[in-house]
Amino acid sequence: MHSTALITGASSGLGAEFAAQLAAQGHDLVLVARSGDRLAALAGRLTAEHGVRAHVLVQDLAEPDAASRVADGLADRGLSVDLLVNNAGFGTCGRFEEISGARDHDQLMVNVVALVDLTHELLPGMLERGRGSIINVASNAGFQPSPYFAVYGASKSFVLNFGLALRQEYRKRGIRVLTLCPGPVETAFFDTIGTRRAAVTGSMTTPEPVVRATLRALERDRGYVIPGFGNALAAHLTPRRPRTMVAAIAERITRKVLVPSADASTQRERTA
Ligand SMILES: NC(=O)c1ccc[n+]([C@@H]2O[C@H](COP(=O)([O-])OP(=O)(O)OC[C@H]3O[C@@H](n4cnc5c(N)ncnc54)[C@H](OP(=O)(O)O)[C@@H]3O)[C@@H](O)[C@H]2O)c1
Repeated sequence: MHSTALITGASSGLGAEFAAQLAAQGHDLVLVARSGDRLAALAGRLTAEHGVRAHVLVQDLAEPDAASRVADGLADRGLSVDLLVNNAGFGTCGRFEEISGARDHDQLMVNVVALVDLTHELLPGMLERGRGSIINVASNAGFQPSPYFAVYGASKSFVLNFGLALRQEYRKRGIRVLTLCPGPVETAFFDTIGTRRAAVTGSMTTPEPVVRATLRALERDRGYVIPGFGNALAAHLTPRRPRTMVAAIAERITRKVLVPSADASTQRERTA
């Protein structure tokens, strides 16, 4: 069946890999991010390789009306979306008072507000057509409080709980909602956050197996997916209460991001 997938944050990392694997499955694509050149190059490559149609919508998802602009872009092109991949996102880390408030504001706009707004824009059309799927990209960081990643971790807890709730609301109405909770993945995420110490567990995987596991989980109509046995174990075996104790243990694990590292200057520049 002909299908169109819209992927936010498709210019890099997991989003570009979602685009590649979905194109290989024959989905037409709508690629959304700020980096128009990179999106255009990816769209050209995937069209040449797989014969799919790939549209580019350049949009800063931190803008308050970002989702309605994306919806206008879809309407202008006469497109409806069967699979929404809410993937765009970034993190900040360090002591809360040292992180730029404006940067954290933008983080919430991209990781949380744009994700909810896009779902509002696209879910009604899916319901009308009686089918559709949504993949929301959360994180392993969403399973517990994350000191020194306080805003990032909380944004991903939101995404996880939002996704699980929507899944229950819509599972009998033809809509699949899957939440992806990856551990560390080798992408530009760590350049943006400013330190590879943000990969708290140390071991990283690549986007390819993470996206493959996610698309398999979507086929099987799972509620959430944690690619990687060690990541799944950590997410499921970590005690949930008492919550203050969980936060205290998390602080001992995450405090290593405070140690100055060779790449710390990038973080300072980005949060300035
Ligand atoms: N890598 C990891 O270890 C890891 C682990 C758990 C969860 N995640 C989550 O996975 C998702 C994808 O991240 P990634 O690892 O693939 O990192 P990435 O390579 O840095 O990709 C981030 C994507 O988000 C887009 N984006 C960022 N700010 C944006 C904005 N204001 N407007 C529009 N698009 C924006 C970027 O595009 P432009 O810069 O072109 O706008 C880029 O395409 C994120 O939600 C992240 O939180 C990553």
